[in-house]
Amino acid sequence: MINEIKAMVDNALVALSEARNTDEVEQVRWSFLGRAGRITNVLKQIGSLPQAERKPVGASANAARDRIQAAAEARIRELQEGRFARLAELEAIDVTFPAPPLDRGHIHVLNQVRSEVETILERLGYQVEEGPEIETDWYCFEALNLPKGHASRDLQETFFLAEDESIVLRTHTSSVQIRAMERLRTPPIFVIAPGRVYRRDNLDATHLPYFMQVEGLAVDEGLTVGDLKGTLLYLVQSLFGPERRVRMRPTYFPYTEPSFEFDTLCGRCGGAGCRSCGNQGWLETGGCGMVHPNVLRNGGVDPEKYTGFAWGFGIERMALLKYDVEDLRLFYENDLRFNEQF
Ligand code: DAH
Repeated sequence: MINEIKAMVDNALVALSEARNTDEVEQVRWSFLGRAGRITNVLKQIGSLPQAERKPVGASANAARDRIQAAAEARIRELQEGRFARLAELEAIDVTFPAPPLDRGHIHVLNQVRSEVETILERLGYQVEEGPEIETDWYCFEALNLPKGHASRDLQETFFLAEDESIVLRTHTSSVQIRAMERLRTPPIFVIAPGRVYRRDNLDATHLPYFMQVEGLAVDEGLTVGDLKGTLLYLVQSLFGPERRVRMRPTYFPYTEPSFEFDTLCGRCGGAGCRSCGNQGWLETGGCGMVHPNVLRNGGVDPEKYTGFAWGFGIERMALLKYDVEDLRLFYENDLRFNEQF
C-alpha cells in the first residue's frame, strides 16, 4: 500500500510538471485529491485496513496529500510567473522609443492674416487701437459724416440693438477712427483697428453676416494721397509679394474726400485677366481716401492744420487673395481639413 502511495505521488508530480496552465494543474490536483481522487480513496479505505497498517498508511497518505497539494500550488505560481515574464517581454515598453508626433493646434488663418497685417503696419509706426463691437450711432455713423437719413446709411445693412436705432452692432471698423482721435488727441496719429463687424447680409459664398476688417487711420501735417497709396502698396506687397501692384479708383464714401476703392493686381494672371479675377486683372481689395474735414473736426482734430488718410478692408478678402480660397464660408466652418492647410 505504501508503495502504491509513493507511485501515486510520483505520477502526480510528473503530471503537475507537465501541466501547461492552471486548468491542467487543477485537473491533476482533482484527480488525486478531489472527492473521488486517488489519494482521497486511500484515505477513505484506512478504516477497513488491519489495525497494524492503519497508522503507517494513514501517515503516508496524509504526507502524499500535502506533498501533491504543495506541488500543485508551486506549479501554479511557476506558471503565473512564466506568464508574467512572457507578458513583460511581449508588452515591454521601450521608453527610449521616439513618440509619435503630437497634433498641435495652430492659429486660425484669419488671425494669422490679421496679425501679419498688424506686424507690417507696426513697422511703419502704426499702433493697434480697439473699439467696441456694440457701438453707438454716433461713432458708427453720425461722426463719420453719415447723418440720419443720409442715403449712404441705407448702403449699410445694420443690426440695430435699440428700438430708437441709437445702439448698433458696428457695421465697419471705421467706428474706431473717432475713438482713436479722441483718445490720442494730438497728431501724429497712426493707428490700425482690426476687429469684427456685422451686417445683415444673407450667408453665401461671398457674404457673411459677420466678418473681420482692419481700419487704418493716419493724421498728421501734410499727409497726401501719395502717402496713402504708398502705405497701401507697402501693405499689399508685404502681404502678397513684390509683384503685386495697387490701383485706386475714385468712388464715394461720406467720411473721405476724395474717396477711392483700391484693387490689387491679380496674383494668378498678373493682370492679363483670368477666372480668379473675373477677367479684370485686378481684385477689389478695400476702400480708402483722405479723411473728410468734418470727421477730423468730430474727432477733435483741426482740419486747417492737419490732414489724414484712412482705409479699410476685410480680412477674409485678404486671406482669400493670399490663398485663393473660393468660398468665404470655409473660414468659419472650422472644418479641420480646411483649417490645417494654413
Ligand atoms: N468702411 C468701409 C467699408 O466698410 C471701408 C472704408 C472705406 C474704410 C473708406 C475707410 C475708408 O477708412 O476711408 O466698406
